[in-house]
Amino acid sequence: MTLTIHRAVVIGSGTMGGGIAAHFANAGVPVYLLDITQPIVAASFERMKKHKPPAFFTPETADLVTIGNLAEHEAWISEGDWIVEAIVEELPAKRELVARIDRLRRPGSIVSSNTSGLPISRIAAGASDDFKSHFLGTHFFNPPRYMKLLEVIPTAETNADVTAFVCDFAERRLGKGVVVCKDTPNFIANRLASVGGAMLLDFVLARGYTIEETDAIVGPLIGRPKTAAFRLQDLVGLDVSSAVARNLYDLIEGDESREILRSPRVEALRKSQMDRGRLGDKSGQGFYKKGGKAIETLDLDTGEYRARREPEIPSIAEANKIKELPERLRFVLRQDDKAGALARHVIYNTLAYAARRIPEITDEIANVDRAMRWGFSHEMGPFELWDALGVRETAKAMRGNSIDVPSWVDGNFYRSAAAEPPLLKRRSSAALRDIGDGVLYLVLRSTTLDDDARGMIVESVEELENGPWAAMVIGGEGADFSLGADHQQPSVKAMQVALMAVRFCAKPIVAAVFGRTLGAGAELAMSCARVVAAAETYMGLQFPVAGGCKEMVRRVVSPAMKRTPNADPLPFVQNVLQAIAAAKASSSAAEARSMGFLDAADRIIMNRDHLPAEAKEEALEMAAHGYVPPAREKNCYAAGRDVRAALKAGIFILQQGAYVSEQDARVSAKLASVLCGGDLSSPQWVDEQYMLDREREAFEELATGKPSRNR
Ligand code: NAI
Repeated sequence: MTLTIHRAVVIGSGTMGGGIAAHFANAGVPVYLLDITQPIVAASFERMKKHKPPAFFTPETADLVTIGNLAEHEAWISEGDWIVEAIVEELPAKRELVARIDRLRRPGSIVSSNTSGLPISRIAAGASDDFKSHFLGTHFFNPPRYMKLLEVIPTAETNADVTAFVCDFAERRLGKGVVVCKDTPNFIANRLASVGGAMLLDFVLARGYTIEETDAIVGPLIGRPKTAAFRLQDLVGLDVSSAVARNLYDLIEGDESREILRSPRVEALRKSQMDRGRLGDKSGQGFYKKGGKAIETLDLDTGEYRARREPEIPSIAEANKIKELPERLRFVLRQDDKAGALARHVIYNTLAYAARRIPEITDEIANVDRAMRWGFSHEMGPFELWDALGVRETAKAMRGNSIDVPSWVDGNFYRSAAAEPPLLKRRSSAALRDIGDGVLYLVLRSTTLDDDARGMIVESVEELENGPWAAMVIGGEGADFSLGADHQQPSVKAMQVALMAVRFCAKPIVAAVFGRTLGAGAELAMSCARVVAAAETYMGLQFPVAGGCKEMVRRVVSPAMKRTPNADPLPFVQNVLQAIAAAKASSSAAEARSMGFLDAADRIIMNRDHLPAEAKEEALEMAAHGYVPPAREKNCYAAGRDVRAALKAGIFILQQGAYVSEQDARVSAKLASVLCGGDLSSPQWVDEQYMLDREREAFEELATGKPSRNR
């Protein structure tokens, strides 16, 4: 069987096929993207290139995709090591395509079907034995680049090695969170979400909740995303969700809850909305409607749109003051008001329904929790939540509400989490841990780099240099690595000293970055001996004062001038100035590399969950190979006065043309001055401290409006 994916073929270039093809390209795999006709595939590909948020890591990534049509290019199928089918959700169409692929594919190549809920084994029922043993379901979520969940559905005939290979590839190369599912209707995530969604909708219609009340209760308040119930419906589209409900109903005869999918209340609402073409975002109106500037809401009583009406449920604001989900949810569940009633209905019913689906849809409860976290962005999966709320007391409350809880539910679902690695130091904004093998792990715990975090950086570097340690990793634990310095504190000077300590540390320090990595967060990463970045890293500098300008000059301008001493430095400095002055963050780690924030030796990995381990390995390897810290030498090319004048002239022209404001022009001129090394009569090689001093001066001048005393 195939053990390397040299080329993927994706058939069906719509929302999913286009997104899947883009993501294979993001993983560096060349792709053939096929559809029925050339105009269809060409239009889809153009849409994909302009997609927001971007489907491709960089504009150039799209070059890995070659588009074609099945009439002329069906032979391309024979070149695929993995062929993904993502055409319309219709069994006869998919079966016909399977027969075609079976005729054309190379034996040993993998074939997968991206279906929302059709039985995988029936799609391949008529195919050859080699086909069947290499065939499985791969259910990506939309959009494929950003949604973490990938449900992998082997059939009874799928070769176990094929399944294992697909899971591994999806996890490492595509960066997905893989959940292996049984071949049951709608698999795991959509099964629970469809039935749970119908239970919710039926209840709010029966009890006369407004749309605003519903979305205020079943969103972040109970650990679910802001899209809550009705916003999510508008995103998915009523045509899609009602088709899913209809299909599902027919397929799950044995499901004790299936009648809710035909709730007359829900069906009447769907019909009335669909008859009026109110499908959701795709038709410009659904449960919400953009009316002029404001967003209007559907009044469920009158069926007409009206101005937004804030829910009057005081316990919601009270609850939102509680940070931790289990505690907040316990509070909401206790309330004797509309919030409490809806939360009890939703939480008790969805948790119990999930339990009643074991072992039908999976044997492992962890699969259910992951599917709901990764596929629907729930903060905790149903069993994790149940554990946190207390299993027996919650089960008792459910039974008290006439909800059927299976008898196997008795006591905790999970054993308590593995002990965290030993803690060496802790402050509110950062913690230092021993992660074994002589590696320290400095974890940033707050979104900004405040004085507390700065202090921990300094102490951690001291510990690393003076203690029995080989290396250190700096990472974070939130959704982002760091949003930058807290500009009230710490002082620029102190931050510069801390980051220089990182840069010149005698032992290797590796930054493990992900999500937004901005301002001083980016400067911290760039000060490290190496960066291991998650593919989804958005890196950028604002007004760099702690080495950002210095690093960009050292990384972008200096190598060019070293290679060709007579080269004109202006275009290089100009590029750096543009990147910094625009304060533009990269849209991926790959783009951060092309913008100069990451260099060639820095590594990009697709799966963020692997970040701390990969960074640790990188750090240990650097230590084992005899890490040599950078020398304190004149390694920065300061271009001097002439280049500065040329840059300033350019800024002046932009300002005259009203392309930049006066304030932006002032800031850009300051940055230009820093990047050129200040007031040097001729180009010179200077050391890093010299450049840092220029950054600090510029910051002080901008802050005070006066020239710096050091000048
Ligand atoms: P879509 O309607 O956006 O795209 C389908 C594409 O397949 C179209 O470009 C169409 O021209 C092409 N096509 C139709 N019949 C074909 C054939 N016989 N041969 C070649 N191409 C053909 O549909 P979408 O949303 O991309 O869905 C594709 C599959 O993915 C469906 O099975 C759907 O259930 C599933 N899915 C959809 C999700 C979504 O959020 N849209 C999420 C997960 C799965």
